[in-house]
Amino acid sequence: MITQHTIQQILSRIDIIDIVGSFVKLKKRGTNYLGLCPFHNEKTPSFTVSPVKEIYKCFGCGKSGNSISFLMDHEKYSYVEALRWLANRYNVEIEETEVSPAVKELQQTADSLYIINSFAQKFFSDNLFQNEEGRDIGLSYLQERGFHEDIIRKFQLGYCSKDKSAFASAAIAAQYNPEYLLKTGLVVLRDEKLSDNYRGRIIFPVHNQTGKIIGFGARIIGKNDKAPKYINTPENEIYIKSKILYGSYFARQAIDKTDECLLVEGYTDVISLHQAGIENVVASGGTSLTPDQLRLIKKYTNNLTIIYDGDSAGIKAALRGLDLALEEGLNVQLVLIPDKEDPDSYVRKIGREAFREFVENNKKDIVLFQLEVSLKDAGNDTNKKSAIVNRIAETISRLNKTEDFTKQQDYIRQCAGLLKIDEEGLNALVNKFIRERITKQENKIHAEEDKYATESTGTLPTQEDDDLIDLIHKDELVERNMTRVLLEFGSYTWDDKQNVANFIFGEFDNNGLHDLIDNRQLLQIIQIYRTWVDDGILPTPKSFLYHENADISAMAVGLMDTRYELSQNWKEHYDGPMPTREDLYREEVISTLTYLKIRKIKRLIIENQKDLEKSKNPDEQFHLLQTHQHLKEMEINLTKEYGTVIYR
Ligand code: UTP
Ligand code: MN
Repeated sequence: MITQHTIQQILSRIDIIDIVGSFVKLKKRGTNYLGLCPFHNEKTPSFTVSPVKEIYKCFGCGKSGNSISFLMDHEKYSYVEALRWLANRYNVEIEETEVSPAVKELQQTADSLYIINSFAQKFFSDNLFQNEEGRDIGLSYLQERGFHEDIIRKFQLGYCSKDKSAFASAAIAAQYNPEYLLKTGLVVLRDEKLSDNYRGRIIFPVHNQTGKIIGFGARIIGKNDKAPKYINTPENEIYIKSKILYGSYFARQAIDKTDECLLVEGYTDVISLHQAGIENVVASGGTSLTPDQLRLIKKYTNNLTIIYDGDSAGIKAALRGLDLALEEGLNVQLVLIPDKEDPDSYVRKIGREAFREFVENNKKDIVLFQLEVSLKDAGNDTNKKSAIVNRIAETISRLNKTEDFTKQQDYIRQCAGLLKIDEEGLNALVNKFIRERITKQENKIHAEEDKYATESTGTLPTQEDDDLIDLIHKDELVERNMTRVLLEFGSYTWDDKQNVANFIFGEFDNNGLHDLIDNRQLLQIIQIYRTWVDDGILPTPKSFLYHENADISAMAVGLMDTRYELSQNWKEHYDGPMPTREDLYREEVISTLTYLKIRKIKRLIIENQKDLEKSKNPDEQFHLLQTHQHLKEMEINLTKEYGTVIYR
């Protein structure tokens, strides 16, 4: 892991104008810079970069973030890759920390597996081109299927000979660890000896996004009913099936350029299309798309075109991932290859241009396709039909972002047409699903608060409860404010003994940090701040703006984006120098803390009242009443204090 010290060093040198400016042409406009948004197509610039806030925001497509998220988004870097890029640019030497033993072991295993895979790939490729059996059987098979040498070399295909243990022996001679060899699936134990697992098969290496080999598919040559057609690498530290898209390493650039990702089923489909010059293509291995795979696609493009053969079982699998794809905001089209062909055989048969044209002319929207298929299934069965209406309405309701609104309306119109039902009716049904989902989400978010409010109400709402509900609405704001104040002013002086951060944490300790902040994410930011302070690092807002956890970074962007605006009224009636926000930071700290304390006391009062209602013991009741009195006094005092700070 890169040390926090190095990260802080990198962050202190970041210049967002320089970084974004190396990818986007920026022009100065007032305090900000303006350019054409690199994340969507536009003719007039709406992409704004603020050097002061160190964030960018596009007013066209809404994308926003910081220097690091820009590199992650634009260059598809991981957080660590972005840091390394920056370190390189600003000549910061990278210091790495010791990682935990478990992580270290995982990394070592992963590294060993990569090394063995790379050795195996070379071994099998050499076999294919240089060994007699390899050329006679492997290479001639591939050539018969029409694969040219350059494409075979590009995809690093190979051949595993029929010999019992040619590879195993070579690997052992090269001193690879048997335990790791077994993990790669390249060898298996037979009669207590390591033997080759892919004997007599064509080897397809599987690369990850950065081009490292994570595993293999091994195809049998010719037909054999007893043996499986492909043997694949078993799941291990680096081969995680749900995250693999075969070909993604070779497709990256083409997907970016065409803004479309073609999805096929098999290894050979990917390779054939590449040979035909169609490079924006990946394969799923015929299983249903997983959330991780969808997310990977979404990193590159919003347009997914699934190309399957007409009677493939894979279509059903593809449809299973549909709702998820829609929710991720992907536009999904389906192209069915006719006549029992697959993309590999079809592109060979009709050639590259005809294939492209075929795909363009036969794209079917997958939502409409799903509807057509299920309508055919249902026939005249009215029960089945109404189930279909419900299901399609639910599917359409998942397209629930404002930018998808037109698309949603289009779907409603077209589906109502296919179903021969009233458009308004379908619209209402879709809205019902949307409302249900929103309610569900809201319930989840407010579950805690609701629990709290109803528990405290008991019977009729009291003044106390009204206050409380009012408070709950303000809560989020105040908690955000507390966090922002800490980020922004933490390093400022509080008094001659301590800075603002120390003061705030001192107050927290006296009141219980967990009790003061409800929002888990905000609490997390505050806690991270605190561990950094304990480690002798004084964080700045930047430390969070660039945090590796995207949620935290997004939250920090949001926090720093709320500018403190003096009301117009104030400006008109106040002459003399305007107090700046910085002059007011002490007041902000005090008023925010006081508010949080008042809230806590109100909660204690409610708890106490509940106990009082339940209590049957006069002594206990008396004690609870005294507590009530005491809490009330504290509340009144604090409220006075709060008022003075606010209204002075
Ligand atoms: P296909 O049977 O369509 O194979 O399976 P293919 O890639 O077109 O191969 P050729 O053209 O017949 O030589 C599609 C994909 O499903 C996975 C593989 O990833 C394959 O590429 N598969 C298939 C397996 O994992 N195991 C199998 O036994 C069969
Ligand atoms: Mn095939």
